[in-house]
Amino acid sequence: MKLIVKPATHLLSGTVAIPGDKSIGHRALLFSLLSATPIRVLGLGDGADNGRSAKAITALGGSITRDGAALVIGGTGLDGMRAPAAAIDCGNSGTTIRLLCGLLAGQRFQTTLFGDESLSKRPMRRVIEPLAKMGATITGQSVAQAGSQAGSQADALDVTPPLVIGPATAPLRAIDYVLPMASAQVKTAILLAGLYADGATAVTEPGPSRDHSERMLAYLGAPLATSGRRTVIDTRGWNRRLAGDGFEVPGDPSSAAFLVVAALLAGAHEVRLPNICVNPTRTGFLDAIAAMGGAVAQEAPRTAGPEPVADLVVRGLAPGLRATEIAGDLAVRSIDELPILGVLAARAHGTTTIRNAEELRVKESDRIATTCAMLRAFGVTCEARDDGFVVEGRPDRPLAAAHVQADGDHRIAMAAAVAALVADGPTTIDDADNVATSYPGFAAALTQLGGDASNKDN
Ligand code: S3P
Repeated sequence: MKLIVKPATHLLSGTVAIPGDKSIGHRALLFSLLSATPIRVLGLGDGADNGRSAKAITALGGSITRDGAALVIGGTGLDGMRAPAAAIDCGNSGTTIRLLCGLLAGQRFQTTLFGDESLSKRPMRRVIEPLAKMGATITGQSVAQAGSQAGSQADALDVTPPLVIGPATAPLRAIDYVLPMASAQVKTAILLAGLYADGATAVTEPGPSRDHSERMLAYLGAPLATSGRRTVIDTRGWNRRLAGDGFEVPGDPSSAAFLVVAALLAGAHEVRLPNICVNPTRTGFLDAIAAMGGAVAQEAPRTAGPEPVADLVVRGLAPGLRATEIAGDLAVRSIDELPILGVLAARAHGTTTIRNAEELRVKESDRIATTCAMLRAFGVTCEARDDGFVVEGRPDRPLAAAHVQADGDHRIAMAAAVAALVADGPTTIDDADNVATSYPGFAAALTQLGGDASNKDN
């Protein structure tokens, strides 16, 4: 499917309900499977990725029923999961497959997990290695590591799906693990496996990856404590019971980011995005935008269970933006928003540098390569680096209308659609079906705000 976006001809305006946060949605589903009580989930997003986690929990013995606006998840408790009748298809979803690795590592049955073409290339050694140290058996396909240089044979190998997990023949062993990269998916997999280990399982991470798992597992009564970058799950003396009433899934800041940047680039009478998760591990993009001189107000702050939420509001003419540097913890806290921040940087005075973001190489696409290719299609000078990219801002004239390849990556397609608002003619984005991974209603939302975005079959 193609996405065709015309330049904005007037200020954007309106209120758009952003679908539920994808990361929190996965956790609401997968953690509810472990609950001894039914859990009501409100606000789950309609993206295909969360759908994969929903299918997985029913394959493992959970149930999902609708009650008004809520989904009610009937869990199996920690020890009631059953062997799935068939291999589980994780689609495009890295979070589904990696969290399932942790959840299944200690089960007494065997499970096979597989995914689409993109997921089949994504590195799993990062999750297999710590789980193997805990005594789990997980096998997959050995491949040369993405982006690896000459080095030892062992260093050059990674493992990709399909993965075969278990069966575990004994309880898992607790480990004290220092993560080599800031990854919430790997951290969560280890913590979930830690629920099945005898003792204290500790994970220390090098940067502030999203902490929804820590908040949500603690909310369900898991024996979990976090201190700085170290989280410990200690099952000694625990009754092995997780329970709760419900989760409210707030709007996804990673989806909101596209409409926030659209409003900043095109200008806005008032664009309001209610009820967005503003957990600080997710709001690096708002800090980067503020550093560039963009104003995004957070109004009506409140909490939704364990998460802080607020309305994001953009008002006024397109601001005169200045370039910035995004590096270190800020790069971790804005990792999924770096493609759209690259678009904003293309309209800022000066040269913006993104560093310490090598994790972008192993997302749904190599997002350093695909972000640079997308920006170049609009005539922007963008240089790829090993751990990020450098964008020359050109605020003085429109971007060149483009024909963009989204490479099956939802965030590249949506970033290109936003760039198209400030181009000198209509832009065509090929291979945009994967927008449905996280935000099926994106084109309609952009149009609702006054843009002109339409889907066309090839
Ligand atoms: C996610 C964690 C991040 C993020 C991904 C979702 C999660 O990935 O990029 O979109 O829900 O835990 P990593 O854990 O690989 O950093």
